[in-house]
Amino acid sequence: MALSEDFLQELRSRNSITSVISGYVQLKRRGRTEVGLCPFHGEKTPSFTVYPDTESFYCFGCGIGGDVINFIRHAENLDYIDAVRLLAQRSGLEMPQDNSFDDSMRNLRLRIYEANREAARFFHSTLISPTGRQGLDYLRSRNLSDKTIRTFGLGFAPDSWSALSDYLIKEKGFKPNELVEANLSFRNKKGGLTDRFRNRVMFPIIDLRGNVVAFGGRIMTDEKPKYLNTSDTPAFKKSYNLFALNKAKNSKSDKIILCEGYMDVIAIHQAGFDYAIATLGTALTSEQARIIKRYTNNVIICYDADEAGQKATARAIEILRQENLNIRVLTVPDGKDPDEFIRKNGENGHIRFKMLIEGTGTDIEYQLLKLKSSFDTTTTDGTVRYMNAAARVIAQIDNPVERDVYEGKVCDEFNVTKEEFKRLVNSVIRSSRRREKTREFEKIKNDLAVPAKNETVYTNRRQMRSQKAEEFVITYLLNNVDMAKAVYAELKPEQISEGFHRRLYETIIQRAMNNRSSGFTDISGEFTMEENSRIAAMLTKYSPSLHTYDACKDYVNAILEDHEFVSAKQLSEQSDQDVQSYLDSLKNKKLGNKI
Ligand code: GTP
Ligand code: MN
Repeated sequence: MALSEDFLQELRSRNSITSVISGYVQLKRRGRTEVGLCPFHGEKTPSFTVYPDTESFYCFGCGIGGDVINFIRHAENLDYIDAVRLLAQRSGLEMPQDNSFDDSMRNLRLRIYEANREAARFFHSTLISPTGRQGLDYLRSRNLSDKTIRTFGLGFAPDSWSALSDYLIKEKGFKPNELVEANLSFRNKKGGLTDRFRNRVMFPIIDLRGNVVAFGGRIMTDEKPKYLNTSDTPAFKKSYNLFALNKAKNSKSDKIILCEGYMDVIAIHQAGFDYAIATLGTALTSEQARIIKRYTNNVIICYDADEAGQKATARAIEILRQENLNIRVLTVPDGKDPDEFIRKNGENGHIRFKMLIEGTGTDIEYQLLKLKSSFDTTTTDGTVRYMNAAARVIAQIDNPVERDVYEGKVCDEFNVTKEEFKRLVNSVIRSSRRREKTREFEKIKNDLAVPAKNETVYTNRRQMRSQKAEEFVITYLLNNVDMAKAVYAELKPEQISEGFHRRLYETIIQRAMNNRSSGFTDISGEFTMEENSRIAAMLTKYSPSLHTYDACKDYVNAILEDHEFVSAKQLSEQSDQDVQSYLDSLKNKKLGNKI
């Protein structure tokens, strides 16, 4: 990662952490920090904190943190160098010309996008050629108009072992390896390439930047597998992408319809609703929910009416609720999926579907209805059991006013007094909070537990103390980069007890020795995202005003003392021979120092 100091400094000064983050999160000033709702996990009270002093951010809820580059990496799902590129672009800074940093991954990704684009063109032109007759007939039999086929770029993979691979290699100059990485081809036993998609109608999957990132291919008979999808590649992650979001994000209506299948999405778009999207044959993930939230707060779940679809609906409600999205559930009548429903209704398909959209209830109404149908509410016993279950559903709602509305609805229906029912709901809320508290408490206990492997409590205390001290010294240096040489004169990296701290300290010291600056942004490229979160967490523990050189010296002394104690203890547990060689090495060191 050889980006120059000057470049990184310029990048940092042009992209102050608050200005960048406030493009994603609404921030409120609180003393020296700014706080807001974390964009990386669902929360209702802000634990996401930005520290302009140290140019870092940290979320106390989910533990994600880092510098401005890390923020972009998390928010835009980019690797280090692409995050730097984005920030450079944002601030009109030109990337250094001699790109000595490792570009191979990025280049491979670009080649995969290109291969996919050419493949999509190949599939589409095959579809409208004589070879694609069967595919075109199939799509038309499913009521898709030629215009729809064109706007979705649908295609046909011919019934041939290697038509696409041959074409891309011979006509377009791709390397076999690139096609394998793109998951368009795989190596056969003879060492040649075989097309992954054969004799299927093809649905290209396009990301938000317009890249063709993957394909879904449907077989035209009852054979299995019905759909074959691109596996994850260096350019594609199923759980981060959504089919047709590239179209839905441009819709004027402030909502999206979330479906299960490609065909549902396409049928709904064709019926005039340009805001349908689908997951790619997997259950909805929280990453996807967060991506949706960037475009709208209103989601209509429109899954299949079968049992699997209903189970998936329950799960999707949970995930979308965590991200604070407003949810409605559209239930397609007669056990159909939305595509079939629209098709079966012919001319009136779009009107009938519009009525379904307008008739949707909220996720809570949906869950209450489902519950009611599973209890016999004509009996007293059934009603009581329904009320108990309903209380658990309503207890999920955080907003007291919203909760009150549903409490009223349920009570009116069964002539129960609202006070009693409210008490029931509140007791559910209290006990689930208690459960959560216990879980948190257990977690803290686990975090602090030290393995008891013949170590005394005393040693553990020493270790804990030196780890805290190490954190202090490191954050001191990140805030006072000019003090690195002075601290190094007292404290050598090998005296740092914790492995990650040692590596961090070494990095800072090495840079200082070469007169290179070692602020957070200068070093963040040398650590993983998780490690950067750890660094950001450390930076939150001590306010810069505590960072005096005197305090730092006290902490250094603590580290040295504990280091000596632990080494001595380890020594006492070693064999005589080990001890002798250790002493010898000390002697040599002393001699060396004198010379
Ligand atoms: P049609 O039968 O063409 O109408 O498809 P559908 O959209 O009704 O599909 P279905 O409800 O069976 O499946 C929903 C989604 O799950 C599809 O769009 C695919 O993404 C995925 N899927 C379905 N079958 C398979 C399969 O056999 N393998 C894989 N990997 N994914 C599948
Ligand atoms: Mn279907």
